[in-house]
Amino acid sequence: MADINTDVLIIGTGPAGSASAALLSSYGVANMAVNRYRWLANTPRAHITNQRTMEVLRDLGQDVEDEAYMFATHQDLMGENIFCESLAGEEIGRMKAWGNHPLSRAEHQMSSPTKMNDLPQTFMEPLLFKTACQRGTQARMSTEYLRHEQDSEGVTTTCLDRLTGKEVTIRSRYLIGADGGKSLVAEHAGLTFEGKMGVGGSMNILFRADLSKYVAHRPSVLYWVMQPGADVGGIGMGLVRMVRPWNEWLIVWGYDINGPEPEVTPEFATGVARQLIGDPELEIELLSANVWTVNNYYATKTANGRVFCMGDAIHRHPPSNGLGSNTSIQDAFNLAWKLAMVLKGQAGERLLETYDAERAPVAKQIVTRANQSIAETGPIFKALGMAEGVDPVQMQKNLQARTEGSAEAEAQRAAIRKAISFKKYEFDAHGVEMNQRYRSGAVVTDGQIEPAFQMDADLHYQPTTWPGARLPHAWLYRHDTGAQVSTLDLCGRGHFSVLTGLGGEAWAEAASRAAADLGISIAVHIIGPRQTYVDHSGEWARLSEIHDNGCLLVRPDHHICWRATELSTDPAADLGRVLRTVLAR
Ligand code: FDA
Repeated sequence: MADINTDVLIIGTGPAGSASAALLSSYGVANMAVNRYRWLANTPRAHITNQRTMEVLRDLGQDVEDEAYMFATHQDLMGENIFCESLAGEEIGRMKAWGNHPLSRAEHQMSSPTKMNDLPQTFMEPLLFKTACQRGTQARMSTEYLRHEQDSEGVTTTCLDRLTGKEVTIRSRYLIGADGGKSLVAEHAGLTFEGKMGVGGSMNILFRADLSKYVAHRPSVLYWVMQPGADVGGIGMGLVRMVRPWNEWLIVWGYDINGPEPEVTPEFATGVARQLIGDPELEIELLSANVWTVNNYYATKTANGRVFCMGDAIHRHPPSNGLGSNTSIQDAFNLAWKLAMVLKGQAGERLLETYDAERAPVAKQIVTRANQSIAETGPIFKALGMAEGVDPVQMQKNLQARTEGSAEAEAQRAAIRKAISFKKYEFDAHGVEMNQRYRSGAVVTDGQIEPAFQMDADLHYQPTTWPGARLPHAWLYRHDTGAQVSTLDLCGRGHFSVLTGLGGEAWAEAASRAAADLGISIAVHIIGPRQTYVDHSGEWARLSEIHDNGCLLVRPDHHICWRATELSTDPAADLGRVLRTVLAR
């Protein structure tokens, strides 16, 4: 007999675990989240919060979304991505980042009702965790996962209560391993991985110091410092990262993974801070310092039976592109509704297999992207004549060379500009963040051909209603109040949704019948003049890729699972067939 029973046990209360708990509780599923420590993240590791993640928070409710913006640094203060000799020293170049270039800003605004922002993990985790606990999650801190065993009915997990030193067993129908980059759950579940751990060494130095005089006139999240040694280990360059504008900072500095691990003493940390900021007298209030490794490692199998892993447990990569916690939260959004529907008897267990089919390719994609971004820093060093091992005197000469009037200097300046501008693949890769299209048993294309990307798929989001893609965002207007509502707001919140237009009333009737037959709830929206939601701007007509009498069936995670471009001969039969397929019934 287990000591405790629950439906879903979640190991870890990081972004992945807390998001899973918040979503499951919002869907009315009993769940318990455990963390080996007594509290949440104690350093602000993740911070770049992309639009897709904000859509998950928006789905959790306006209170959650509003609180995120309240604590976040606004997108407007994120954008002057600076490359410099040191903060006090010469600026080498800059690029607008994170949707702050006017063209990119337009794409961001057109793609989502949400805004990218900078929300340190020390704010994101408590927000998700509080939401989870308020809505029903049983949280158990100072509880360390030790092992699990699964059988045909459920999973028995043994944890150590670190307060009493006693073991406690928890019986659950399903187990989520959201226990980070050293995941024991993934190891015990026998997940398979590709890639390599420990391809570079890095350290974080967290400190307080008012650096306004160096940065307030060029507001940014990231200040990249090109100094000798800056391309060793680490994430490509020395980094001074804003945590709170402009008095809390995190320095990321690499070390050679093949050498001994450096001891980051207060003296050493202060020295690195002074060197990167370029102020030998600078006094810092050191908050913490630690070393970590750069990984290039992803799971090729993310689940085994009743055990599902997510977050860093299945994708381990450097922070480049800011994808870690974002992808972790999005993993949770993919799995939570599936678990909820299976546990409520609304879907067959095979639905859960689609988690691996849909998220394993994402794990590979983002790990590859983040590591490639490190490599793409090389051309900046090369253009500056700063290959590894360059001494400070030579570096000054190389920096000086670019200020001359010669043809060589002009070519060098052009090479620097080109190399910096190429970094948009790390700092403004909207497509990487938004273009995820799923292929699995929970998507029915009925042979419709996937649209090819018209622009670079890493840089630009391309909306489509092709089944598998995320529902495009368009602003609609309430007929009664005129209030602006996103198409995404009509969907999600744990329910399937049907979107149609005038002439598509038969889809609405068919959806009601299918919902009754299958014992699920389906939100139905007929969009058009004098309906509840009106497409005054014509944006939805442009993006929907269906006739007014067509139909989009949208999953609870905003991904489209089926599309009829016009009214079919038997809408009830079609919706019933598709829902049975998607729900594995
Ligand atoms: P995470 O590691 O956060 O959480 C694991 C949880 O499991 C913790 O609660 C831990 O205590 C618990 N746990 C572990 N073992 C356990 C056990 N045996 N028993 C019980 N509990 C256990 N990402 C991003 O999206 N944007 C960004 O800008 C950045 N920037 C960034 C900068 C730096 C310097 C770093 C180092 C990392 C980032 N990241 C990032 C990455 C991000 O921090 C990371 O991807 C997420 O924290 C992963 O979240 P998880 O919830 O998967 O694991």
